[in-house]
Amino acid sequence: MIIHKTEAEIALMKDAAMLVSQTLTEVAKMLKPGVTTMDIDRLCLSFVKEHNAIPSFYNYHGYPHHICASVNDVVVHGFPNDTPLKNGDIISIDMGVILKGWHGDHAYTFIMGEVAPEVLQLVKVTKESLYKGIEKAVINNRVGDISYAIQDYTETKFGYGVVRELVGHGLGRSLHEDPQVPNYGKRGTGHKMKENLVLAIEPMINLGSREVYTDDDGWTVRTRDGKPSVHFEHDVCVKRNQALILSDYSIIEAAEKANPHLNSSYY
Ligand code: MF3
Ligand code: CO
Repeated sequence: MIIHKTEAEIALMKDAAMLVSQTLTEVAKMLKPGVTTMDIDRLCLSFVKEHNAIPSFYNYHGYPHHICASVNDVVVHGFPNDTPLKNGDIISIDMGVILKGWHGDHAYTFIMGEVAPEVLQLVKVTKESLYKGIEKAVINNRVGDISYAIQDYTETKFGYGVVRELVGHGLGRSLHEDPQVPNYGKRGTGHKMKENLVLAIEPMINLGSREVYTDDDGWTVRTRDGKPSVHFEHDVCVKRNQALILSDYSIIEAAEKANPHLNSSYY
């Protein structure tokens, strides 16, 4: 069932999405070699609680942590752990919150120190593909237009692997609402979008093959070839001429630029 939001509800969803952006900004400030993803989990939990919200991932279908921390070959749903992060790592932090009953759910991939030029380009192109998808989130377009835009840029133009097993989704009072938003598909197909549909668009793009597998923990999704994967996610509201992006990378990027341990040389 597709649920459209009222303007008042969208204002509340903006607050939820922005709380995630603020949390990811705190992550951008703390990242440096030696920090662990468990440290990041603790920081995110306390930051969100201080802001009168609840982390939404904990216990979602039994998920045992407050964030997903997906490093290098981990595509998504990585468990935070006690391994110190190091130069050359790429780290996707995905966080969900419930604020006044409404979900925010978004993610950002950070680069620590120097990485191979091909990895830098993968991060750049994946972030750009998210915005290419968002450009299509306007009324009377179909979900397949978003999917196609992401696939066309990442797979057709750059030859990257577009993960098929995991998709973006509607967002609202639930973390996952209809419709599904795949990162691959055909133009002019799928659900025809109307104003005030809220979507979480989240390209998961592999440097090598698109094949993935899930670890024995039942959650951690990894690339089969062990090559890196990048994940970015925004919460967006479908509008007439241009989608309204509820989350905000500008504050995360400002903190990233100010952190000498992070590599933001690609933008
Ligand atoms: N952003 C992911 C999603 O929308 C995160 C869900 S992780 C889970 O599916 F732990 F909540 F399952
Ligand atoms: Co999501």
